[in-house]
Amino acid sequence: MKKIALLTSGGDSPGMNAAIRSIVKTCLNKKIVPFGIFDGYQGMIDGRGKNMKYSDVDNIIQYGGTILGSARCKEFLEIEGRQKAIKFLKENEVEGLIVIGGDGTFTGAKILGQEMNIPIIGLPGTIDNDIYGTDYTIGFDTALNTVISAVDKIRDTASSHHRVFFVEVMGRDAGFIALYSAIASGAESVLIPEEITDIPRLVENIKNQNKGRRSTIILVAEGDDEGHALDIMNKVRPFLLEYDLRHSVLGHMQRGGSPSVQDRILATRMGNYAVDLLIENNSNITIGVRGTELITCSIAEAIKEHASPDLAYLKLIETLRTK
Ligand code: F6P
Repeated sequence: MKKIALLTSGGDSPGMNAAIRSIVKTCLNKKIVPFGIFDGYQGMIDGRGKNMKYSDVDNIIQYGGTILGSARCKEFLEIEGRQKAIKFLKENEVEGLIVIGGDGTFTGAKILGQEMNIPIIGLPGTIDNDIYGTDYTIGFDTALNTVISAVDKIRDTASSHHRVFFVEVMGRDAGFIALYSAIASGAESVLIPEEITDIPRLVENIKNQNKGRRSTIILVAEGDDEGHALDIMNKVRPFLLEYDLRHSVLGHMQRGGSPSVQDRILATRMGNYAVDLLIENNSNITIGVRGTELITCSIAEAIKEHASPDLAYLKLIETLRTK
């Protein structure tokens, strides 16, 4: 293995730079050329990439985002686009590929691996934590810390004005961010796509929670089946006319920020392991973490299966709800 390409793809996440740094340094220390591809599969199609040096990854571990750039690339879904990408990899004598991203990234990698017969390793890089085969994805812990920092601030003002706040968080069609941050922020209720939202029950909970309390926070996952925070607020408003209701959409700030210790260590371990797996002739697998142990599963399985949050967390919130 003389040359390994790497790319980041899909929604970026804090910790991607730590993974890039680890892959590049591991390659160079093992006399392998790391070839960074810009802007995910789009850059592979456009022929944009470069051999990377130690200096390219100096002082990046602390920064969110990805120095390689990322993209969502529709052209890669077409065979013509993939053929351009394969030509670019062959021209640059790439012998192995490491992709960092979510299930869309893994889907592209699986097809590419079949059409080009190149060994590929996938790292789970997304704030959504919705990747099968791992307890945590790179960026999830940092996003949670961003969310609870924002919710703590909203709690301050909600308590000052005796308000009920509906706070919308990311997560695409999964409720991991909403559920974990609801526990960590002490939110009174949480709405996630994995559970049917019961509006009358929510109204009841808000009335009960608000008795003698200065504020109520409801976290709403953006993929919730009843709609986003504003929709939910408008649905309950007719039943809560005497309450001061407000909503807040946290949006893309959840994707940025300096990665947490957890994400920096996870990304560094996974990046180093990915290079070793390629050197040992592994192919078409994704890396995950189970507890503190790094594990692998096939890319096909990671794409096919779906990851859902442990609903015991929902039970915990209900158990702690003030009666
Ligand atoms: O997959 C990460 C994510 O942040 C999701 O939580 C969110 O729904 C989506 O990306 C937003 O995508 P974009 O940044 O392309 O608007």
